[in-house]
Amino acid sequence: MGPVDQRTIDWNDGAVVIVDQCALPGAHRKLRLETVTELIDAIQRLAIRGAPALGAAGALGVALAARRHEHASDVEREAERLAQARPTAVNLAWGVRRALAKLPSGASAVLDEALSLLDEDEKLCRQASGHAAELILRECARRPLRLLTHCNAGRLATVSWGTALGVVWHLHAAGQVEYVLVDETRPLLQGARLTAWELAEVGVPYRVLPDVAAASAIARGLVDCVVVGADRIAANGDVANKVGTYGLALAAARHRIPFVVVAPSSTVDAATPSGELIEIEERAADEVTTWGGVRTAPAGAPVFNPAFDVTPAELVTAVVTEHGPG
Ligand code: MRU
Repeated sequence: MGPVDQRTIDWNDGAVVIVDQCALPGAHRKLRLETVTELIDAIQRLAIRGAPALGAAGALGVALAARRHEHASDVEREAERLAQARPTAVNLAWGVRRALAKLPSGASAVLDEALSLLDEDEKLCRQASGHAAELILRECARRPLRLLTHCNAGRLATVSWGTALGVVWHLHAAGQVEYVLVDETRPLLQGARLTAWELAEVGVPYRVLPDVAAASAIARGLVDCVVVGADRIAANGDVANKVGTYGLALAAARHRIPFVVVAPSSTVDAATPSGELIEIEERAADEVTTWGGVRTAPAGAPVFNPAFDVTPAELVTAVVTEHGPG
């Protein structure tokens, strides 16, 4: 059994329609985005987020621009703004470039390309996570498996299936999952809000834990394997993913459990030789200094709020794409 067969992002009657991830888990509602400016705002607020979903957003955004503007230079300007909406996930610029390449053939060719990218995303995520599930069954002796994941790499982070959670869907269908430990994922709680919601939807047993409890859960032998997604994988195999991932990789290495990264090959950035060259998005201070609208740090407290970190390749057991373990 996998996630509900519903797209996180799609095209409907001239607009991009997304599941509003800022509203979950309280409300499941959709947003209709009719301009590139609205789409950029949704991306920056994380109403649509996760590397593969951002690739789809990039491509569909170019389709919006191509319908609206007559001159190629205007579409290209909008595409550039969109590609820069968030810097770390390489999929966003990749999706923009792929759709933009069809502009000389007209707006409907751009839309067709974007829609085929969406179809592919589901297929490639299913394949990548299927390969990763097989790898984990080979690497881990214990049955059923106890997995730990970080952030949200589920259907909400992709068009409709997921990467790290895609692995869970495959293993759960085979009766091989005892539970998933879900890092809450400070400061925006993608784990607590979104991953927990997806696991509950499918009926997979899980527990949410504070990020700071993950290392001790691993040390206490409560985890057989850590499985995460990625925002950009450098040519040397270094992996940028949600901040906190690097610490998990260190703990996994120290306690000799596999640390598996699952992503479609659109997340691999051959043009970036190594992880230190990946731009890490820094987000607003109030994400760290407030809690539910209430200030939790002194007024004006200086903040370090990187949205991602880089895990060196040597700590990664395998990067698994649709082509299998790399
Ligand atoms: O800031 P976010 O929520 O967009 O960060 C998302 C992640 O870090 C995911 O782990 C990554 O994009 C992989 S999603 C399949």
